[in-house]
Amino acid sequence: MSLLTRTTDAFWGLLDPWLFLGISLSCLPRTVLALFRKGRYAVLLSPRALQDAWFHEFWGSRAGPGIRANAGERVVPLLEGRCTGGSVVAEPMGPPVSGVVLEVGAGSGLWVDVFPKFVGDGGAGGSDGDADVRRRGGAAASGSAGITRVYGVEPNRDQHPGLRKAVERAGLEDVYRIVPVGIEDLDDGSKWDGRVEKGSVDCIVSILCLCSIPEPEKNIRELYGYLKKGGRWYVYEHVRCEYSWYMRLYQRLLNVFWPHFIGGCLLCRQTEKTLREAGPWEKIDVGQPPIEPWYHAVPHILGVFTK
Ligand SMILES: C[S@@+](CC[C@H](N)C(=O)[O-])C[C@H]1O[C@@H](n2cnc3c(N)ncnc32)[C@H](O)[C@@H]1O
Repeated sequence: MSLLTRTTDAFWGLLDPWLFLGISLSCLPRTVLALFRKGRYAVLLSPRALQDAWFHEFWGSRAGPGIRANAGERVVPLLEGRCTGGSVVAEPMGPPVSGVVLEVGAGSGLWVDVFPKFVGDGGAGGSDGDADVRRRGGAAASGSAGITRVYGVEPNRDQHPGLRKAVERAGLEDVYRIVPVGIEDLDDGSKWDGRVEKGSVDCIVSILCLCSIPEPEKNIRELYGYLKKGGRWYVYEHVRCEYSWYMRLYQRLLNVFWPHFIGGCLLCRQTEKTLREAGPWEKIDVGQPPIEPWYHAVPHILGVFTK
């Protein structure tokens, strides 16, 4: 690759997060207008509620579908057990997602369509790709239980209509339950009409959400407590830049604006470290996807933590 091409790529790569912020900003007038039209004036007067509505508009209809299409190449194999060291591989390196699943920060349900193929009987909405997964050792084919229940934890109620529709489209009404609180209130029976017991969860799925939760050290440790012994945490999250001081600095600068535009999301979290320190793990297989170049200001980790 020529120097010119590399410089141009780096230029656009560095600019990209600012364009992302610009897209988010462009969604604000439409959000405010829609709230006026619907007479939701109280939301307009509450910064937190307005941020939720704005984020829903931005993520649900603008940013999310593109991210879903792009990250699907990594997240779907991750949930199939086909990742190692942050890379996608052809053969399963571990079991696919199964049993009782906690989807943290389910948002408007962009990933719900991935779950049916892991449901015990193959689920609704099966496709050729699904059969392929089962052949390669998916839960349903191996005789072990597939997914029996998904708790989609999502405190932003603006996201719930979209999430509910995604659950219906996937035919998962009997399997997928929306939990309308933050993960910090999962076991608080007074906050929602259900309860998830500590040590009862087979798998946690967190996709681009640990950047948004409050008190990450405390709450990730709490989430660790929900996993059974042998349970697995499938993670695809963006994290703090580690590879150079100037990218760390650049990321810090971006982070001055980022949370205000992107629903409270923080760029500089050391999520891998926090996960590693949440408790003893039997196995950790995580890394940065190799497609991410040095100028990527929003680097990711991809992998599985086994308790
Ligand atoms: C960037 S979005 C990602 C949504 C979804 N995972 C996706 O990939 O489309 C982060 C989500 O985390 C949710 N979130 C924020 N605080 C949370 C908390 N305390 N517990 C659970 N989810 C939370 C937000 O409401 C938001 O929907």
